[in-house]
Amino acid sequence: MKERMLITGGNPLEGEVRVSGGKNTAVAVIPAVLLCDEPCTIENLPDIEDVRALVDILRALGAKVTYIPGEFMTIDPRPVEAFQIGYRDSQRLRASYYLLGALLGRCGHAEVYFPGGCEIGSRPIDQHLKGFNALGVETETHGGRITAMAKELTGSDVFFDVATVGGTINVMLAAAKAKGTTILYNAAKEPHIVDLANFLNSMGAKVKGAGTDVIRIRGTQYLHGATYAVIPDQIETGTLMIAAAATRGDVTIHGCIPQHMEALTAKLLEMGVKVSDSDDAIRVRTLGGHRAVNFKTQVYPGFPTDLQQPMSALLTTARGTSIVQETIFEQRLKHLDEIARMGARVRVAGRMAIIEGVPQLYGAPVTCTDLRAGAALVVAGLMAKGVTEIYEPGYIDRGYEQIEVKLRSLGADIRREVID
Ligand code: EPZ
Repeated sequence: MKERMLITGGNPLEGEVRVSGGKNTAVAVIPAVLLCDEPCTIENLPDIEDVRALVDILRALGAKVTYIPGEFMTIDPRPVEAFQIGYRDSQRLRASYYLLGALLGRCGHAEVYFPGGCEIGSRPIDQHLKGFNALGVETETHGGRITAMAKELTGSDVFFDVATVGGTINVMLAAAKAKGTTILYNAAKEPHIVDLANFLNSMGAKVKGAGTDVIRIRGTQYLHGATYAVIPDQIETGTLMIAAAATRGDVTIHGCIPQHMEALTAKLLEMGVKVSDSDDAIRVRTLGGHRAVNFKTQVYPGFPTDLQQPMSALLTTARGTSIVQETIFEQRLKHLDEIARMGARVRVAGRMAIIEGVPQLYGAPVTCTDLRAGAALVVAGLMAKGVTEIYEPGYIDRGYEQIEVKLRSLGADIRREVID
């Protein structure tokens, strides 16, 4: 069923909204339950397509899953004996590759096709395989499928060539049940890595140093059941902050972790946006125009690549010229071609965009090319004069729970309709 989103821009977003649980933490914590020797209950999960895909994948492996959206998910992994993930399931999300680390930790064998996910670059998994090989895993890629096997997982040192979020998570999953200690060097430090480590430790695993670039994992043979609530979504929080600024509104976002937002907060303050925070809420107001700013995406705690797209949408109407550098992915500026249809003045050269602020964007038909590009088009539509039609909004549903409901509750004129 094809849909499109319709936004009539110009309404300042005002009021209070609660952020959902984190997509990129949920897609790591759910597969991690396969490492457990007892049932687990996960709370605060966002009801998004990626979570629903993982429910189907775990059920196909034989796990007993009870999922009450907005409440909890209970997973009993004990009946699982399978270790193969089909092509279609592997393709449904990027994070299907976490089933490699989880199944290796569970039974020493995993067969998963190369994952799906946003087309924002080549997205290799060489670092994941390097980490598995260090643990004694034989890996082979043939016919689009990754086969990983180990008679015994043995702890080892792994030095990542790049600070990879996925590689850090995947090797952490396998190492949690390896024999001996694994040390990950040049590990990624994103909040969802800390959240996964906290979840593993709540089951009795021994993970230390998550959030730094050296993580030590002492393998544990038996992991007991746990109940765990995932952290709020850092990127949804940031997207709502940017939308509030883009519409010259006044929004308070509840249930977030302000510390995770510091790189974005600093840039918004530099633009002249008013940002204030308490322990679990952030208020964003704009009292006047926005100044152009420059930024470069970096690994955490730098400016998150996932917020580059909505932020660059905001900069299209800032006063002055902004320079955006996308250092993490090589093709993550395509959304700016779409926003140029709305009157933005942008020049893209490789991983750099030069954005010359214009007084006003104008509604137009545009198409999502990936999840965060979709978020950028929503931000642009909210501040444009007239109606913006956003095609392929399904991308947005992969990472944002009921984005229209949240935005409508803040006064946005946004709806979705079936087109054929
Ligand atoms: C995770 O992707 C997120 N996805 C991405 O969010 C996020 O943009 C990214 O981390 C960076 O924060 C999930 O968590 C499901 P990486 P991931 O491995 O793990 C290179 C979203 O919008 N690299 O940290 O794929 C890679 O090419 C999504 O929610 C290798 O070279 O990111 C990239 O340049 C989009 N070899 C850089 O590292 C590898 O083996 C960072 O990739 C792995 C990665």
